[in-house]
Amino acid sequence: MFTVLSRQPCQQTGFKVLSKTSTIITLVFLLLSIVVVIAVTLVQINQKEVLSPGLKYGIVLDAGSSRTTVYVYEWPAEKENDTGIVSQTFKCSVKGPGISSYGNNPQEIVKPIDDCMNKVKEKIPSHLHKNTPTYLGATAGMRLLRLQNETAANEVLGSIQNYFRSQPFEFRGAQIITGQQEGVYGWITANYLMGNFLEKTLWRTWVHPHGAETTGALDLGGASTQLSFVPEECMQTPIARYRCSCMAMTTVCILTASSVMEEMKQRKGS
Ligand SMILES: *[C@@H]1O[C@H](CO)[C@@H](O)[C@H](O)[C@H]1NC(C)=O
Ligand SMILES: *[C@@H]1O[C@H](CO)[C@@H](O)[C@H](O)[C@H]1NC(C)=O
Repeated sequence: MFTVLSRQPCQQTGFKVLSKTSTIITLVFLLLSIVVVIAVTLVQINQKEVLSPGLKYGIVLDAGSSRTTVYVYEWPAEKENDTGIVSQTFKCSVKGPGISSYGNNPQEIVKPIDDCMNKVKEKIPSHLHKNTPTYLGATAGMRLLRLQNETAANEVLGSIQNYFRSQPFEFRGAQIITGQQEGVYGWITANYLMGNFLEKTLWRTWVHPHGAETTGALDLGGASTQLSFVPEECMQTPIARYRCSCMAMTTVCILTASSVMEEMKQRKGS
C-alpha cells in the first residue's frame, strides 16, 4: 500500500515531466506553424502588391473631320513594358462638328471638349490623373484646314493645347497625323482586335502566335480613306507608285485615297 502510495506520486511526476515535454514540443510546433503561416501570407501579400499595383489609364481624342470622340483605355500597370492587354473602358462623343469647323472661332471648341473631359475625370481615379497620358490626333479635316489656312489650323490646335494645360492629365500634345500614320494605326487596331499579334495559351499567358497572318484594313473616314495591308513584296513592286510606305521591320503598306486618285489621274492623262 505504502509502496504503491509512494510510487504513485513518483509515476505521476514522471508522467507530468513527460507530458510537460510533449506540451512544450506541441507548443513549439504550433508556434512554428503559426510563424510559417504568417510568413507565407506576408510573402503572398507582398507579391500581390508587386504584381498588381492596379490599372493604368490613357486618354485618346480622335479628332475626325465630322466629329471628335474621347476614348479612355486601361491596362494592368505592371505590364507597362511587356505585352499588356489594353481595353477601352469609356467613350464620349464631343458635341458639335469636328475641330476643323472651328477655324474662325477656335475658343468655342473648349466647352464641348470640357463636357466630355468632366465625365472622363469621374471614370479615372483622381490620384492617377497626373500620370494619365492624353493625346489628340486630328485627321483629314484638319489636314485640309491646314492646306487652306495654316494660321487657322494652328489656332485650333493652340486652343486645345491651352485647355489641356489647365487639366490634371499628362497632356502629350495635339497633332495632325498624316494619312500614312492613320493607315498604320488602323492596320494595328484591326490586327490587334483580331488577335493576330498575341494569343492566350493554356497557361493563361500571352504569346506571339507563330506564322500568324495579318489582315488588311480599310478605314472609311469622313474626309479620307486608308487602305493598309502587308504587301507580298515591299518597295520593288509597282505599288510603290501609290506612295506606299513600307516600314523596314513590319513591311506595312498604306494606300491612301488621295494617292489612288492621283494614280488614276496619271493613267487617264497617259
Ligand atoms: C519601361 O521602359 C522605360 C524605358 O525603357 C523605363 O523608363 C521604365 O522605367 C520602364 N517601366 C517599367 C515598369 O519597367
Ligand atoms: C486664316 O485664319 C485666320 C484666323 O482664323 C484669319 O484671321 C485669316 O483671315 C484667315 N485667312 C484666310 C486667307 O482666310
